[in-house]
Amino acid sequence: MGSEDEKRAAAHASVDFVENGMTVGLGTGSTVAYLLPALAARALDIRCVATSPRTADAATALGLRVLDFDAVDRFDIAIDGADQIAPDGWLIKGGGAAHTREKIVANAADRFVVIADSSKPVAALHGSVPVELMAYGLAATLRELSGVVLRDVPRSPDGGVIGDFHGDLSDPAALAARLSGAPGVVDHGLFAPSMVHDVLIARGTEVEHRVIES
Ligand code: 5RP
Repeated sequence: MGSEDEKRAAAHASVDFVENGMTVGLGTGSTVAYLLPALAARALDIRCVATSPRTADAATALGLRVLDFDAVDRFDIAIDGADQIAPDGWLIKGGGAAHTREKIVANAADRFVVIADSSKPVAALHGSVPVELMAYGLAATLRELSGVVLRDVPRSPDGGVIGDFHGDLSDPAALAARLSGAPGVVDHGLFAPSMVHDVLIARGTEVEHRVIES
């Protein structure tokens, strides 16, 4: 069972990876909420880009330098949470509906570090996969995909409609390809192991560091 202390421990461990002069991608969520004050406390000369207005506001309030993404084309490091972490490094993200922006940032990072409490590692991905859909043609996209339940949440900052795809998750690569290939899908919450470099999982006060080889 995860805990707030574990989220804090994982987040604090990740701060050691950040160095002066770096451009840093900041994820979204309750684990990232522990990262921001720890990063600000190091008082490094860094530039940050946030994956959500929530993270941008919190980081700015803590004195971190937050830039618009149009001012940056790559990151030295990006740090973010996850909803599920499979043994082979596949992730499900998007519990906070920020997965589209989070994936763009993670993909643009030389090093993508996932921070998590002990409830996040799973034997196999299960449940549902967050999706962001174009509002245009939404009914047709839902018909094409079948299995998407829309969330009763505001649209994403980019105007996308948020939902969750319920279906067979036994082959994440095949499902990721299917979702990515469906017209009307902006992006989905399956993150491939090739995008992930480090996973920090807190169990009690211990933090396990997994390096994802892919
Ligand atoms: C937001 C995300 C979050 O990283 C994920 O939902 C984990 O959140 P938390 O740290 O609150 O458990 O993908 O879109």
